[in-house]
Amino acid sequence: MSEELTMANKTVIIKIKRQDNPESKPYWEEYELPWRPGMNVTSTLMDIAANPVTRDGKASTPIVYDSNCLEEVCGSCAMLINGKARMACSALIDQLEQPVKLEPFTKFPVVRDLSVDRSTLFENLKRVKAWVPLDGTFDLGQGPRMAPDEQEISYPLSRCISCCCCMEACPQFNTSTGFVGAAAISQVRLFNTHPTGKALKRERLQALMGDGGIQECGYAQNCVEVCPKEIPLTNSISNVAKDVMKQAIFDLFRT
Ligand code: SF4
Ligand code: SF4
Ligand code: FES
Repeated sequence: MSEELTMANKTVIIKIKRQDNPESKPYWEEYELPWRPGMNVTSTLMDIAANPVTRDGKASTPIVYDSNCLEEVCGSCAMLINGKARMACSALIDQLEQPVKLEPFTKFPVVRDLSVDRSTLFENLKRVKAWVPLDGTFDLGQGPRMAPDEQEISYPLSRCISCCCCMEACPQFNTSTGFVGAAAISQVRLFNTHPTGKALKRERLQALMGDGGIQECGYAQNCVEVCPKEIPLTNSISNVAKDVMKQAIFDLFRT
């Protein structure tokens, strides 16, 4: 058989956990699609949308999922792919075991099919004041200069795409702990390193004390293993934990 004919016959089998609305019961569907070179999980979902017929010939509906940039920058397409939290747009089919199993994140409310509501991360970023404070909208001129060693710390942290993979994989991130998660802690380090952002350092560290704060982390390191941007999360957690401890001691003697 010629190589061309083998490629023409090659297929991709995808199993997808679907859910019609936030309250309804999930169910599985299986699709078989013609293989193409360079396919990724998002492109298979696009192929299904063009012809939503299941492997056993039942007419279905396009799968709902989030995506935007298609180049691992926007952070929207995160899901469980063969049980691992990762980005659909950069998950190459040829590197995945088949059938490829797609599920929505389990730690975030399902909106529909593979789309989940990840607003918890944004609430947590608000909790730790993950921004540089600016007073007014007038021209502030050039920002302060950062030393090269500070830039080297900050740049990798600034690559966070808010995908929530680190939170999904973290055993401590659940409703009983209320843990803010590795991404928010890493952003505390980023903004506490920034020359203007430092103005809120104390408040950020105080936000990480107590329930749901940094002490909930069990250093299981799942977060750093799944982060698609290879952000040194456990390093940030240790660094911020030291600062939180120093701040707590300082606050104790100040009162
Ligand atoms: S080190 Fe472990 S417990 Fe801490 S944030 Fe990462 S995955 Fe969660
Ligand atoms: S730290 Fe990494 S895994 Fe967590 S939200 Fe940011 S990019 Fe995603
Ligand atoms: S679509 Fe933007 S990260 Fe995947």
